[in-house]
Amino acid sequence: MIVAIDGPSGAGKSTVAKAVAKELGFSCLDTGAMYRAVAWLALQKGVALDDDAALGELARGCELAFGHTPGDPAPKEVFVDGNDVTTAIRTAEIDKAVSPVSAAPSVREAMTAQQQRIGAAGDYVVEGRDIGTVVFPDAAVKVFLTASNEERAHRRVRQNVDRGVGSIDYAEVLADLVRRDEADSTRAAAPLRAADDAVQLDSTGRYIEDIIAEICGLAQGARDAGAR
Ligand code: DC
Repeated sequence: MIVAIDGPSGAGKSTVAKAVAKELGFSCLDTGAMYRAVAWLALQKGVALDDDAALGELARGCELAFGHTPGDPAPKEVFVDGNDVTTAIRTAEIDKAVSPVSAAPSVREAMTAQQQRIGAAGDYVVEGRDIGTVVFPDAAVKVFLTASNEERAHRRVRQNVDRGVGSIDYAEVLADLVRRDEADSTRAAAPLRAADDAVQLDSTGRYIEDIIAEICGLAQGARDAGAR
């Protein structure tokens, strides 16, 4: 069974996806980390960020892998071609580079195919931007998670402090969120938007535990209705 969680940066998708996966006994797939890993590789190899053909070749040819701790549904590490990029993909530099990379149609094609292969192998909570619309249009549960720009920026700053990587300047983080929302929503290939049948949840001012419980309830309801 697939639980799709889409929404803009900083809406709380990662925290919610991990907790929902743990509660349901599902695995967790962070598709943003996959686009970030390709962006990292493009910068490493000096591939131009507007060269769709070269980026596509990179995305198709690279080996993406997640490191797991037994018993934890959320991957602990991200590897690309054997390099541990867990921290390196969270820098402000990658925040910027990932927009053009994730807008490249050939990159999206390669990542979508890989995400569908991974998801077909079991029960997954998949977080991203186009999971309910493109990657898993038949997902049993589709959630579109949002929050106000200000709340998302505050959360992202706290997350960067905890991770010890990325900008901790509120104004810079807010400007970057707004810029990326705009880029993600207006690109031609698989833009950020809620699927018509997605449940829209606004986490502004709500306890994250409530959101987690609500999504677990939706998954339980889908299962009771026979979803697999
Ligand atoms: O969720 P995130 O901030 O780690 O995502 C990084 C970037 O990847 C973000 O700018 C949008 C893009 N992305 C995407 O285009 N499609 C996805 N399914 C997931 C992320």
